[in-house]
Amino acid sequence: MQATDTLRNEHLGVLTVLDHLDRAAAAAERGARVPTDVFADIQEFFSVFVDRCHHGKEELEVFPRLIPRGPAGLVQRLEADHTRGRQLAAAYASAARAYDPGQVEAGRRLAAAARDYAAFLREHIALETEELFPAMESALAPDDRALSEAFERLEVERIGPGTHERLHGMIDGLGPRIDPWTTARGH
Ligand SMILES: [Fe+2]
Ligand SMILES: [Fe+2]
Repeated sequence: MQATDTLRNEHLGVLTVLDHLDRAAAAAERGARVPTDVFADIQEFFSVFVDRCHHGKEELEVFPRLIPRGPAGLVQRLEADHTRGRQLAAAYASAARAYDPGQVEAGRRLAAAARDYAAFLREHIALETEELFPAMESALAPDDRALSEAFERLEVERIGPGTHERLHGMIDGLGPRIDPWTTARGH
């Protein structure tokens, strides 16, 4: 199904960013002067790509179609997850704003918030891989075309044309921006 492939690929993008965030947060926690814009760009990715776009597709297009036909309780669990995710994302955003490069305490707070949100997202993605995608494949296959078209419309309406591509470019550039700090010691 094209719709599940789209969501699966987006999950891979999210997992890639989380791996970069792990490295950047560990460096910040040691007192390395990781530039604030690394954490700010990752925060924008969480807010625009993960929440507005990816969770938007699931909440507005997938869940309503699945409720009458899918396994009981699955959508409710995933919606509760999304609510919790928004709280953890807000905590990360505020720790990222308060981050002061080279300050171990601020780095520790940022790393703790980053780890909480990353652990949540990895668990949520695993649950969707194990339960949501099989449920979509068995209940929503006839809706695949309508779903994929709805995903494309939502992407343009919610995040604007070109934003997806810009964020993918940002992901590709993250590694080299973080690498210099992964071996750096505190000051
Ligand atoms: Fe989700
Ligand atoms: Fe998802």
